[in-house]
Amino acid sequence: MAGKIFGIDFGTSTLKIYKKNDGVIFDAKNIIAVANGNQVIAIGDDAYEMYGKSPANIIVDYPVKNGVIADIANMLSLLNQAFDKLSREHGKITGSEFLVAAPTDITEVEKRAFFDLVASSNAKAKKIRIVEKPIADALGAGLDVMNAQGVMIVDVGADTTEVSVISLGGIVLSKLITVGGNKMDESIILNVKKTYNLIIGQKTAEIIKKELGCALPPKVEKTIKVYGRDVLSGLPVEREISSAFVYEAIAEYMHSIVDAVRIILEKTPPEISADIIDSGVYLTGGSANIYALDQLMAQETELDINICEDPANTVVKGIGRIIENNKLSSLALTLKQTYYGG
Ligand SMILES: Nc1ncnc2c1ncn2[C@@H]1O[C@H](COP(=O)(O)OP(=O)(O)OP(=O)(O)O)[C@@H](O)[C@H]1O
Ligand SMILES: [Mg+2]
Repeated sequence: MAGKIFGIDFGTSTLKIYKKNDGVIFDAKNIIAVANGNQVIAIGDDAYEMYGKSPANIIVDYPVKNGVIADIANMLSLLNQAFDKLSREHGKITGSEFLVAAPTDITEVEKRAFFDLVASSNAKAKKIRIVEKPIADALGAGLDVMNAQGVMIVDVGADTTEVSVISLGGIVLSKLITVGGNKMDESIILNVKKTYNLIIGQKTAEIIKKELGCALPPKVEKTIKVYGRDVLSGLPVEREISSAFVYEAIAEYMHSIVDAVRIILEKTPPEISADIIDSGVYLTGGSANIYALDQLMAQETELDINICEDPANTVVKGIGRIIENNKLSSLALTLKQTYYGG
């Protein structure tokens, strides 16, 4: 592929952009701060700083929800600002080619929205193609997706978990469930309030999850101190939260993820099942970092579980592999090719 080519992963929590020959050049929170209904005042990590702290006239929001574009206007503003920043830092991007990752198990309309978004952006794209997210994930995990060896990929992200079976460069099965790190954070907030009468913010909940989250009952009890507001007195207070408490709060979601894997395994053609027994399951996405999620999955499926290196970046790195290697070009699809029977 000649000329400037960019790859984009519109994640629920992070937006990542790859540039041919340069690698990942943008990796920031996929969040925007808008004042008075129409003035964009910040995007990315700067907007995230304002999250949970903004006055009533400033809305700070994630435009991608449950893996799909939920707020087209805000996503477009955010993307245009990201493109402006990239043009300043990396040279002009207009007239380039774009490869965009999209989940497989979504509607045609939702898939098309990723395409339309880039088409209507200020990048004036020369060509836009879609990469099935599980294919990008597998490539980013270093797998050879073109051969007949079937593989299972489980991407546990922020709003979604996508369980997919791939063979011969195509998707055999894929299921998207709306369970990921965000549901775990919300459950921690709810349980802290119920048990301790303490109100904590989303950022604090995420810190608690990253520090203490565990997919199996913790063998060693750890605690951390957190700050929040007491429901009754309204005053700021400090509390100690334990790993056993966090386990109880998130266990339900760990099992939903494992159940989704089981459902797909039950539907997998036997020849591919044999391949999966051979090579194991590949676990990607930022929430693959939850301690012992691989152990729980291994216990429940009796398969080997491989956690990919830098799991939050497998999708963007996988698109990068397609961009850099002409032999993989057929894995980027025109909009028509993504339609069933297209
Ligand atoms: N060390 C960690 N332990 C637990 N969770 C983590 C860790 N690091 C990141 N996460 C979680 O991973 C999630 C982000 O992962 P990722 O970047 O794959 O999501 P995304 O691609 O934006 O979302 P999606 O794929 O669902 O649209 C967040 O919920 C974050 O809290
Ligand atoms: Mg993702």
